[in-house]
Amino acid sequence: MLNITVRQGHLQKQRADAIIVNLFAESNRNLLKKVKGFVLNRSIQQAIDLKDFTGKLCETQLHYAPDSSPFRRILIIGLGYEKDFNLESARRVAAVSIRKLDEIGVRSVATTLFSVGSNNLSSQEMAQALTEGSYLALYRFESHRSKKINKGIQKLTVLASEEKYLTSIKKGVKIGESISEGTILARNLINEPADVITPKALANVAKELSQNHASIRCRVINERSIEKLGMGALLAVGQGSSNPPHFIILDHNPHLKSRPLVFVGKGITFDSGGLSLKSTSGIINMKCDMAGAGAVIGAMSAISKLKLKRRIIAIIPAAENMPDGKSFRPGDVIKTLSGKTIEVISTDAEGRLVLADSLTYAEQFNPSAVIDLATLTGACVTALGHHAAGLFCSDDLLANRLIEAGQYTHERVWRLPLWPEYREQIEGEVADMKNSGGPPGGASTAAALLYEFAGNYPWAHIDIAGTATSNQFNYYTPKGGVGFGVRLLTQLARNWPTNF
Ligand code: BES
Ligand code: MN
Ligand code: ZN
Repeated sequence: MLNITVRQGHLQKQRADAIIVNLFAESNRNLLKKVKGFVLNRSIQQAIDLKDFTGKLCETQLHYAPDSSPFRRILIIGLGYEKDFNLESARRVAAVSIRKLDEIGVRSVATTLFSVGSNNLSSQEMAQALTEGSYLALYRFESHRSKKINKGIQKLTVLASEEKYLTSIKKGVKIGESISEGTILARNLINEPADVITPKALANVAKELSQNHASIRCRVINERSIEKLGMGALLAVGQGSSNPPHFIILDHNPHLKSRPLVFVGKGITFDSGGLSLKSTSGIINMKCDMAGAGAVIGAMSAISKLKLKRRIIAIIPAAENMPDGKSFRPGDVIKTLSGKTIEVISTDAEGRLVLADSLTYAEQFNPSAVIDLATLTGACVTALGHHAAGLFCSDDLLANRLIEAGQYTHERVWRLPLWPEYREQIEGEVADMKNSGGPPGGASTAAALLYEFAGNYPWAHIDIAGTATSNQFNYYTPKGGVGFGVRLLTQLARNWPTNF
């Protein structure tokens, strides 16, 4: 695990395997004057004069230090134009530079904070972004490797140019660490195979979280109680699997009187499609169908570490969707916890079913808002690709808070419609509604079903089917589980008013 320390000092004096010099793109010679305390090195000066290095965002060049220096390598990295610099640039620059050095086997690195004061970014926010970019970029999932390959960067020193910045930088690093650890927890849960992360294992992860975080209480409802309570939808989805469903509740600051913010995470630990079995290519990543659950668990971990003084609850309907002699079938009619009935058209439209019962269950907490995260539809991937999650929201204020948190964290959400016409598309023939309205507007018809179950509270549904996993490495997001939603929900919670 990366160890980050914050100190006041000059880059030029650091004893380290490498130092990182952050440079804005500007006219030639002025570039280096921006780095306080860094004396021009001849080869760097030449690279700039010859325009071999121009300072565009994330451009890197490796140089070597004279024998008299306490450090051996100098990695110069471009910050792009100062006017365009933002928190996402900071995360990317941190990520690219640390990975570059990690790849060549460097152990210890010193860097400075990106110039403070530009574009109204505080030193605390910069430090947080730098920490997130560094931590998240070095992530590897290697719990199943017989030989661990992680031997790279151990120590990162962040230098404060002046003493007055020390406190805020340390605070930013601490926040960045808490949020990164939550994100990494989510990534690990998503990447673990479905025979490891069963519904019961997910419940055990939640219990362990509450044991390690004093602010969090955990309650797990087993299959028998799911049936007794009347959660017919969760029960139906789970009944074909030999790994029975579990309904998990995490409660941060349960004693607080204010109305809680409630997160719901889809926890289908494997989605085979059930009797409406998926194809070979469609089934391949379906251990990731609990990414919503992973995100809310990761967010709860971060929220607890940040000691947020709000009551925040996470609800996870966990089940495995499998074909079997005991499975629910197309044509079956399910009675949900709310009393409303649903005709099953496709057993592969299982996510909306388990979420329906969860949204009803949430009502008893008198929530100030409920936000569900789910890898819900392929249609949402078609609409938005991998660059934004679909946002469906009954309340403009809540929608705007989510959009803002998405811009801040770069976990972006894009609003899609919840019009009554989509509800008409799933109007029931033998029951109150059908669980599939066919291909047209598939993300919106799924959301329209959920809307039927949203109680008397502002509600948002975030379809993360396209953003939960990635098939390529990008800056600080790995292949596989991304942990999308942890930073978004944590940011929303940090900005949430306390007086509800
Ligand atoms: N878990 C899937 C959605 C999904 C697809 C997530 C691709 C990630 C990547 C969901 O349960 C599902 O199967 N949805 C169906 C719904 C259809 C049967 C109405 C879909 O999108 O095809
Ligand atoms: Mn499915
Ligand atoms: Zn699914």
